[in-house]
Amino acid sequence: MAEQRVLIIGNNFRERMEMTRSLEDIGYKVDSIQDGSNAISSIDNNKAANKLGSDINNIGKDKDYLLIIADIDTPAFSPLNFLKKSKDIKPFTEIIFISERPLVEEAVTLMKHGAFDFFIKPISFEQVELSLKRLLSKRKTSQHKNDNIGNQDNELNRDGGVKGDRGTKNSNNKPSASVEIITADRGMQRLLNMAKRVADSTASVLIQGESGTGKELVARFIHQNSKRSNMPFVALNCAALPENLLESELFGHEKGAFTGAITRKEGKFELANNGTLFLDEITEMQYHLQAKLLRVVQEKTVDRLGGREPVEVDVRIVASTNRDIKESIQNGEFREDLYHRLNTIPLTIPPLRQRTGDLKLLCDYFIKKYSIIDARDVKGMTPEAYRLLSLQKFTGNVRELQNMIHRAVLLAEGELIEPQDLLMEDMPDDNIEDININDLNETLQDIPKHGKNIEELLESGSLRDIEEKVIYSTLDRTDGNRTHAAKLLGISVRTLRNKLNEYKEKK
Ligand SMILES: Nc1ncnc2c1ncn2[C@@H]1O[C@H](COP(=O)(O)OP(=O)(O)OP(=O)(O)O)[C@@H](O)[C@H]1O
Ligand SMILES: [Mg+2]
Repeated sequence: MAEQRVLIIGNNFRERMEMTRSLEDIGYKVDSIQDGSNAISSIDNNKAANKLGSDINNIGKDKDYLLIIADIDTPAFSPLNFLKKSKDIKPFTEIIFISERPLVEEAVTLMKHGAFDFFIKPISFEQVELSLKRLLSKRKTSQHKNDNIGNQDNELNRDGGVKGDRGTKNSNNKPSASVEIITADRGMQRLLNMAKRVADSTASVLIQGESGTGKELVARFIHQNSKRSNMPFVALNCAALPENLLESELFGHEKGAFTGAITRKEGKFELANNGTLFLDEITEMQYHLQAKLLRVVQEKTVDRLGGREPVEVDVRIVASTNRDIKESIQNGEFREDLYHRLNTIPLTIPPLRQRTGDLKLLCDYFIKKYSIIDARDVKGMTPEAYRLLSLQKFTGNVRELQNMIHRAVLLAEGELIEPQDLLMEDMPDDNIEDININDLNETLQDIPKHGKNIEELLESGSLRDIEEKVIYSTLDRTDGNRTHAAKLLGISVRTLRNKLNEYKEKK
């Protein structure tokens, strides 16, 4: 890989050194400056050396910086000027601003003008690494878009920004994009480390987790990190087909094996030979078919329906379920022997509501992803929209969040997603056009004013207390008009009434 370059701007020597060392450890070339007055010239000199200007293919390689990490408190440094100038001369270089203080308005302004991220100090190296990952994936996606307009084999990309270490082929044997799993959650990271460590073995893996938590993504991740990554990854949803069809899908059939079998057909086991077979929703498989599956797993041969000779297969099985498999065993619906065979490596993905740190990361990731895919200019979301989002239960986990953000990116009128773009289920969608956008903007701007900044708001206690303050301050603005306040808050009047009752009961 060509050398990728990062520039650090900041006057704290220790922080600069630590960041430099960590970035160099993972292969980046790092420059740093401590005086803000040199900031623009340090990127301009690069431009001078690259007379043709900035090109997405040059990023981070020779002259252009891939990323700039800038401390906004650096002496003689104007973050907004620098950002504008940098976007002007190096549009593909991304900038992360860091600050000691959580300055909401400044952060929003910088994000609006194209900053890649805004972190409050102390920042961990994992945050920077994650941003780099996101940045590289964004770059790949836009390069991919440039290179591949009209290429329909981009399903994995569309379905989750899938990227990774080794190339992969899908069931059509065409190379597919690599898996990218966005998370900062400790439990998820442990799970992914474990998945990586066992990826090269032939042991079966059973992935459990609620719907939409990323089970298929993890299955692809395992495949991609295994020596089989150049061989097919074949997925079969066991709930999608009736029993007889599922059987022939899995094991294949000879011509004439049953009415309608007009040609010979290879089953998924054969198609996945030397690769990975992902059996989704395994608990939905009929009991009698489970016995056949067990035999194939144990004997590593399949019998095509109507076939004479067993066919040898070398397939790594990854199965998944969103049901309680132990309960299925107790109810006599799932074979215990098959369970033990598949469960050599058990992985349980936690629901999104237990991975609170991931919500913001995933939000930013999906906003960027869909802004690129749908050619929108959405850069982030207002603090109020994010607050609203963070109150959601997300029973549909990452998939639900992904859909909500995708829709919001399409609905957003400006660069930031507003509460009403999120189309929460209990929002009044009948008279949504009645919302006076100017009022809404004023109210949102009032939130930092009421609390001065987010730090003060946060000092007011729990999320509930903050919510209460925001609701009362909105009611203040609307002179107690609940319908108007509910619209401004992006919630239904019913929700507002319930919340006010709750607060009354508390007192
Ligand atoms: N950590 C993550 N980072 C990025 N995208 C994710 C992440 N987790 C899930 N997704 C995306 O969310 C969607 C749902 O994920 P996936 O299909 O893997 O979930 P699942 O657990 O198999 O869901 P179901 O039980 O409904 O089949 C996919 O589009 C996936 O790419
Ligand atoms: Mg799935």
